[in-house]
Formats: sequence, C-alpha cells, structure tokens
Amino acid sequence: MSALRIGLLGHGTVGSAFERLLGERAAAIERLTGRAPEIVGVLTRSGGDFEEILERSQLVVELIGGLDPAFEYVRRALDGGRHVVTANKQLLSRRGEELWTLARERGVHLGFEAAVAGVVPVVRVLRESLAGAHVERIHGIVNGTTNFILSEMARTGAGYEEALAQAQELGYAEADPTDDVGGADAAAKMAILARLAFGVPVGFDDVRFDGITHLTGADIAYARELGLSLKLIGTAERVGDGISVRVHPAFLPSAHPLASVGGSFNAVTVESAAITEITMSGPGAGGSQTASAVLGDVVAAAMGAPPMPAAYGHLPIVEDEVSPFYVHMEVDDEPGVLARIAGIFGEVGASIKSVVQRGTGERAQLIMVTHPLARSRLSAALEEIGELAFVRSPPRAISVIDEEFE
Ligand SMILES: NC(=O)c1ccc[n+]([C@@H]2O[C@H](COP(=O)([O-])OP(=O)(O)OC[C@H]3O[C@@H](n4cnc5c(N)ncnc54)[C@H](OP(=O)(O)O)[C@@H]3O)[C@@H](O)[C@H]2O)c1
Repeated sequence: MSALRIGLLGHGTVGSAFERLLGERAAAIERLTGRAPEIVGVLTRSGGDFEEILERSQLVVELIGGLDPAFEYVRRALDGGRHVVTANKQLLSRRGEELWTLARERGVHLGFEAAVAGVVPVVRVLRESLAGAHVERIHGIVNGTTNFILSEMARTGAGYEEALAQAQELGYAEADPTDDVGGADAAAKMAILARLAFGVPVGFDDVRFDGITHLTGADIAYARELGLSLKLIGTAERVGDGISVRVHPAFLPSAHPLASVGGSFNAVTVESAAITEITMSGPGAGGSQTASAVLGDVVAAAMGAPPMPAAYGHLPIVEDEVSPFYVHMEVDDEPGVLARIAGIFGEVGASIKSVVQRGTGERAQLIMVTHPLARSRLSAALEEIGELAFVRSPPRAISVIDEEFE
C-alpha cells in the first residue's frame, strides 16, 4: 500500500487539530483513497524546514494564515506539482486567481473548503452541486464572532462593548477583533463565494464592507418591535449587467432562513431560479470543525477532485444597492417634525412602510422602515435631514433583507 505523504505548514488551532483528526481517521482515509496518510513534516515559526517538507510531500496543507509567507509556500508547492489544501481566506481573496491558474496548469488540486464558513460545505456545493445553476444571489452569515456578539446583544440586551468582552472571555473573539467586527473577514469570504457563484474574478478590493461596532442595543430592541433581527450579512448578487458584493449589518424578518442562526454558527443561502433557494448552516470555526473540512479536501485531492474552473470575462461591480432600509432618528418632540421628514423622503422617491415613534421627554426616537430604494438616494435624504434644527443626532440607516418588504 503506497503512502499519502502530507506536509503540514502551521501547527496552531487548526493545524494541531488536523494532525489529531488525521491520526484518528487514518484507517478510514486509507480505505477511501487506497493510501495510508502520513505527516512527513511540520512547519511552525520555531521549527521545520519548508524545502525539506516540500521535497518529501505529495500534498501540502497550509494552515499558517495571512499572505506572507503563505502565498510563496502555496505557490511553490503548486508549482512543484503538489496538491495543496488551505483554510486561508485572506490568501484566496487576494491572490486566489494566480493560485487557481497555477494549479490548473500543473494539474494539481487546490482545496479551500475550510476558508469559507468552516465546516459548512458551501464551497463544494457552489463548485460542484450547483455548477449548472445560474446563481442569482447569496446571503451569508460568514463570521461567527460577529454573529455571537449580535446574538448576545439580542438575548441579553447588552451593548456592543459588553457583548464583545463576553465573546473574548468565551474564546469566540480574538484579543484583536478588528478584522471580525470591522467586516474585513466576512468580506474576504464573500469575495471567494462571489468568485465561485458567478465564475468571474472577484477579489477582496471589490467588496464594500461595514462592521458592527456602531450598532446599539436600542437598534436591536426597536427592530424587534418590527419583527426584525439584526445580523452581519454578506451579500453577493447579480444587479442588472453587473454584480454587487458587500458586507454590512442588516435586519431580517423572523421568517428569513438566516434570522434564526444564532451564536457562533455560520449559514449561507443560495438563490437561483432553477433551485429556488437552499440554506446550509453549521459551525463556522473551531479547531476540530475546521480541521474536518481540511481533511475532506485532503481526501478529495487524493481521489482526484475536479479543478477550479477558469474565470471567464468580467462583470462590473455595482456600488449602489437597492434595499429597504431601517432608519433611526433622534428628534425634538414637536409638531410638524414627521411631516418635514416625510417630505424629504418623498423628494428622493422613498416611501415609508412603517413608523414607530417613542417619546422620551422633549425628545423622540423615530424608527422608520422604507420600501426599497437606492442607498445613494437614502444617504442624500439623511444628509438633508441631519442638518435640520430639530434633529438631535446623525440619523442612522441599516438595510433590511427580504422580498416581503419589496
Ligand atoms: N481558528 C479557526 O477556527 C479557523 C477557522 C477557519 C479558518 N481558519 C484559518 O486557518 C488558518 C490557521 O488558523 P489558526 O487559527 O490555526 O492559526 P494559529 O493558531 O495562529 O496558528 C498558526 C500556525 O502557523 C504558524 N506560523 C505563523 N507564521 C509562520 C511563519 N512565518 N512561518 C511558519 N509558520 C508560521 C504558527 O507557528 P507557531 O506555532 O510557531 O506560532 C502556528 O503554528 C488561517 O488561515 C485561518 O484563517 C481558522
């Protein structure tokens, strides 16, 4: 029986879980692939030699993360005819096209199921199961840290800072949570999903993103009255002759399949006329869960997985999305305020679906949900409203996702 010689780059949370899982599942992998898996070398900052590991391996698993030195290691491995499996979303959202091209040229497999939504098999589904579908839209909760924080805010009424501290204490957020709470992590994953769904080159720089740091417990409480829940949502969709790929907080009606995805779970909804809609959900991170997705790719590579199809053509990025919006305003509680605001909305063609008003002494909170309109038009209206004397703080807007509102 021949061996499946694996070089392991990185031995942290996922790398060490991968080594453990590989040991536990060795007999099953041997049955599936006809080859006995064996780790021929491990590279960390403190030990191992890349050249030696490359020389001895047939397949390289990259679990270092980041661009440098991961890009060069992956490039060298592919160039040298090794299959590569990686969980690195930064790498693929910024240099993916070069690496997929190289893998095709060398006739080797580059697996990356674990780079998006952890163990949820969304990459394989888009790449293989839905290869024949014309995907119209993807919505995803692809960052477990932010979903945990927002779930806690909704569950306990805590503010953002308090919920973040709780997430850090429980190990759901890193000491420096900037990439997660600022939306960059989810943006990298949405770039990869958009590339898979639309078949055209999409990189991190094509994704407009916003995070959750400016959200308040009050947003969540008011929205609940409107039957909405708040999530950090990644969207990749066809808009006219182009595509829009973005990440921002959004409200979902309770019937939406992503509304009930709580805690650190991830979920992705894919819409296409041929399939209507499917939703996949599960753990989006964690050592053993991510390692399981990595191991799946190792087996697929050993069994001859299909290559990533070449990107074709180009679709322009559309910046201005059309959506219903939730708008929150703090105003003086005096006659004529609502009429003046409604007049400005009318000027930009925005019609109001619902209004909630809460008095707090001389001040009032106005919470509106609009029918769909372009974000640029809403921004123009909010700028004008923000300058009115009776408006007490800059108005804030969050998009609302659901056909029901359109
Ligand atoms: N953690 C998760 O739940 C999760 C989920 C999905 C995807 N991922 C992805 O999986 C990958 C690994 O994440 P992780 O959480 O396992 O990271 P981690 O715990 O920080 O481990 C990183 C490993 O890479 C090694 N390393 C770092 N820089 C290196 C360098 N310059 N040369 C050689 N080795 C180097 C580290 O070495 P030392 O041991 O010497 O420090 C460590 O063993 C990342 O791409 C991440 O985005 C992680």
